[in-house]
Amino acid sequence: MKKVLITGAAGFLGSHLCDRFVQEGYYVIGMDNLLTGSLENIEHLFPLKNFEYHHHDVTKFVHIPGELHYILHFASPASPVDYLRMPIQTMKVGSIGTINLLGLAKEKKARILVASTSEIYGDPSVHPQTEEYWGNVNPVGPRGVYDEAKRFMEAITMAYHRFHGVDTRIVRIFNTYGPRMRLDDGRALPAFMNQALRGEDLTVFGDGSQTRSFCYVDDMVEGIYRLLMSNYHLPINLGNPYEITIKQFAEEIIALTGCKQKIVYKPLPQDDPKQRRPDITKARQILGWEPQIDRAEGLRRTYEYFKQKLQKQS
Ligand SMILES: NC(=O)c1ccc[n+]([C@@H]2O[C@H](COP(=O)([O-])OP(=O)(O)OC[C@H]3O[C@@H](n4cnc5c(N)ncnc54)[C@H](O)[C@@H]3O)[C@@H](O)[C@H]2O)c1
Repeated sequence: MKKVLITGAAGFLGSHLCDRFVQEGYYVIGMDNLLTGSLENIEHLFPLKNFEYHHHDVTKFVHIPGELHYILHFASPASPVDYLRMPIQTMKVGSIGTINLLGLAKEKKARILVASTSEIYGDPSVHPQTEEYWGNVNPVGPRGVYDEAKRFMEAITMAYHRFHGVDTRIVRIFNTYGPRMRLDDGRALPAFMNQALRGEDLTVFGDGSQTRSFCYVDDMVEGIYRLLMSNYHLPINLGNPYEITIKQFAEEIIALTGCKQKIVYKPLPQDDPKQRRPDITKARQILGWEPQIDRAEGLRRTYEYFKQKLQKQS
């Protein structure tokens, strides 16, 4: 049985990846320090024979006894609310954490896939973003802690690949959504759904004309799985290329939830990107991948999850 280590296992994406690899018959070690994640996301896996949980901070030395075939490094605060609150942890997990895991991959001769982000493109002057675009990041702005940690992550991963021959993969993830996101993580979708479910007005930052594209989590997990199994080492964009404005998105959520609230506008945070849309030509050609789940279906599934979550809490 092939063994895979997934860091950030108790988080949104990490927990879905644990589900997928367990289902595929791998032996999965889920590692997390619960900085932003929750054991609730993976407790259903605890009784299984092919899953174990390690409570560990990956910025400390990482040791796994015996064989290890794959590493997926997903540990990191990921929402702006989280990384603005924890700037040092964010930089450490992207730098020291990544080095620790690359060292482990080298020692075990394991293949490693690291989770980068569309944020490495910053506020892009090229649209849609292709992998060849180098980005427009403000290194000393508040968001720089996340963007630069991920840019460092990509650079050190390529260095281990070129210098030590480590078998590496880099995924640039664009906005992904679905069940197990936190209602209070500050990202647009859970924020809107939280407000709609609580009967509050929906807050849009700026005039709402900034665009985003949203990929449903099952599509993202499929893309990550295919990338890991491919032989492509350069960064690859995964995300949904269908772009909408934030205002349109808020309106769709109002229509879905049937809430009577209106949209209220607040000033745009510093360095907020105005446009975001992946060019997924490479993912289509190299991985044969593109999103399958449309927004209406993805939003409906996510809404059901949040509704149940709030009912449990009350
Ligand atoms: N969700 C998205 O849309 C998105 C977009 C781009 C990139 N990503 C990347 O994907 C990864 C997962 O994002 P997510 O949305 O699931 O976030 P999340 O906050 O739900 O999950 C991150 C997990 O990492 C854990 N963690 C943080 N620091 C750690 C450390 N030092 N040691 C061990 N565990 C630690 C947290 O406790 C949490 O469980 C991140 O690396 C993020 O940068 C996500």
